[in-house]
Amino acid sequence: MSQFTDTVMQQTVYLNGLTMPMSEAQISTQDRGFLFGDGIYEVIPVYQRKLFAWPDHLQRLKNSLQGVSIPNPHTDAEWFNLINHLVEQHPWEDQFIYLQVTRGVQMTRDHLPADCLTPSVYIYTNPLKPIPDAILENGIKLVSLEDIRWLRCDIKAITLLPNVMMKMAAKQQNADDAVLISADGLVTEGTASNLFIVKDGALITPPNSHKILPGVTRIVIERVARNHHIPMIEKDLTLTDLQTADEIWLTSSTKEALPVTQLDGKAVGTGKPGAVWQTLSQHYQTYKQAFINEYNADNFS
Ligand code: PDD
Repeated sequence: MSQFTDTVMQQTVYLNGLTMPMSEAQISTQDRGFLFGDGIYEVIPVYQRKLFAWPDHLQRLKNSLQGVSIPNPHTDAEWFNLINHLVEQHPWEDQFIYLQVTRGVQMTRDHLPADCLTPSVYIYTNPLKPIPDAILENGIKLVSLEDIRWLRCDIKAITLLPNVMMKMAAKQQNADDAVLISADGLVTEGTASNLFIVKDGALITPPNSHKILPGVTRIVIERVARNHHIPMIEKDLTLTDLQTADEIWLTSSTKEALPVTQLDGKAVGTGKPGAVWQTLSQHYQTYKQAFINEYNADNFS
């Protein structure tokens, strides 16, 4: 075992009411998450040990649970305290939390869940590393791929096989990620991120629907843009819109906003990270710092 793997295995995780080293965490082979992909998850960034945009992540967690009819096993304060307890036990100032809830363990195989299952809850944390300078300076490469996912992408479900396959296909084409195009020819999002373009100084992103995940970073960017009078429009986009965009960004909790400088082998805009991305990123960092400065855990615990 490498030293890194060894360290990870010793870190503390939360599983069904207990904290323990990752090496001791075990789930049943009959867990419906394992057998059916029957569960949902959240990813929450933590800056200077503070849960960023916690109310938005909590709301999406509750929406996902409700969307798949898994009973919410915890109160809002319990979720906050469980996560914070884990954050406190790790040395990293910046972390990202992975939180998963499955429908629970069922002994007999049945697509229809039994009544009164107890949801399984797993939470662990990771160091949140800054985006490498090379990416911030040069941007990332995308390819466009057909969106092969289901029609409830608004639910943050653990069933990520299509996302995994599309990410692998992007890598095979020497790209960093894929932008997904649904059967009706409209752009949806990335394999694990939302998508924005910049056209004539305005931000444009596809409207929320069952075809995309309502990203929390997307919400934060909307707030930041509004605070700084940068116009933001929700509008359907086509591949042609991407090909003629001044800038393209991918956004997510672990990556914030990443500039895309190549699409299907052709330069996006100038072929360098754009001016609006630079400005927005600076405002995003200021927003984050203000959030950290004003954070009051008593509001959530
Ligand atoms: N993914 N769309 C998809 C399909 C995603 O998986 C994600 C995030 C987003 C952006 O959501 P947010 O801004 O709330 O992170 C959009 C996480 C990071 C993941 O699966 O690891």
